[in-house]
Amino acid sequence: MFDAIAGRYDLLNHLLSAGLDRRWRTQAIAALDLTGGETVLDLCTGTADLALAAASATKGARRVVGLDFSAEMLRIGIEKVRGRNIALIRGDATCIPLADGTVDAVTIGFGIRNVEHPLEACREIVRVLRPLGKLAILEFSLPRSTILRSSYLWYFRRVLPLIGRVISKHQGAYTYLPQSVEAFPPPEAFSRQLRESGFGTVRAVPLTFGVVYLFVALKGEPNGPGVIIE
Ligand SMILES: C[S@@+](CC[C@H](N)C(=O)[O-])C[C@H]1O[C@@H](n2cnc3c(N)ncnc32)[C@H](O)[C@@H]1O
Repeated sequence: MFDAIAGRYDLLNHLLSAGLDRRWRTQAIAALDLTGGETVLDLCTGTADLALAAASATKGARRVVGLDFSAEMLRIGIEKVRGRNIALIRGDATCIPLADGTVDAVTIGFGIRNVEHPLEACREIVRVLRPLGKLAILEFSLPRSTILRSSYLWYFRRVLPLIGRVISKHQGAYTYLPQSVEAFPPPEAFSRQLRESGFGTVRAVPLTFGVVYLFVALKGEPNGPGVIIE
């Protein structure tokens, strides 16, 4: 599916989020408190927008590795990262081709929902992260306020799939998007899954009225506060 929509993926991301996706990515990278010299792994990197945001974070320089299994998404990403300290590799997030404890921070932008076995990916992230390394995940959710939720669901179930279908010319991809978001565990449940995968503290932060959640998880700290839902 992602191979088929790769050519219009970035345009639709910016259009359907009214440009907010850039701000969400910046907020995810800011949560990692990068200071320079780190190795950052961006899983499900797609066309590499979050990898680019990690490489562009204000303080210091760092090495960024983006991983995805869609060749077409990566093909577009490769053009965008040219000249930057970013390596893009084709691979599976549930079998990361990196040694234990070699990564300082991991990011996933709107990707974990698409991974067939998300718990396996989370365990792999714990494996490759160094102790006290951080994970930042952006994922779509639904607003908590019932009034907002009903108008958002109208947009999400009716308008978004229509615009997506016309622009991407793909029949199912933008119907799958709201369906997969509604099927994904709510923030409390997903935070608990992150804890079960081996993370210490997990913080879930709603962005833009909760249409997106930022999950920030720390490897280690077994006696830390556990799950914090903001
Ligand atoms: C919605 S896109 C997100 C792309 C990008 N991270 C962003 O922020 O726009 C989801 C990506 O996850 C990738 N993906 C899904 N399952 C994967 C897996 N098991 N391993 C690697 N990539 C995967 C897809 O190929 C797709 O490029």
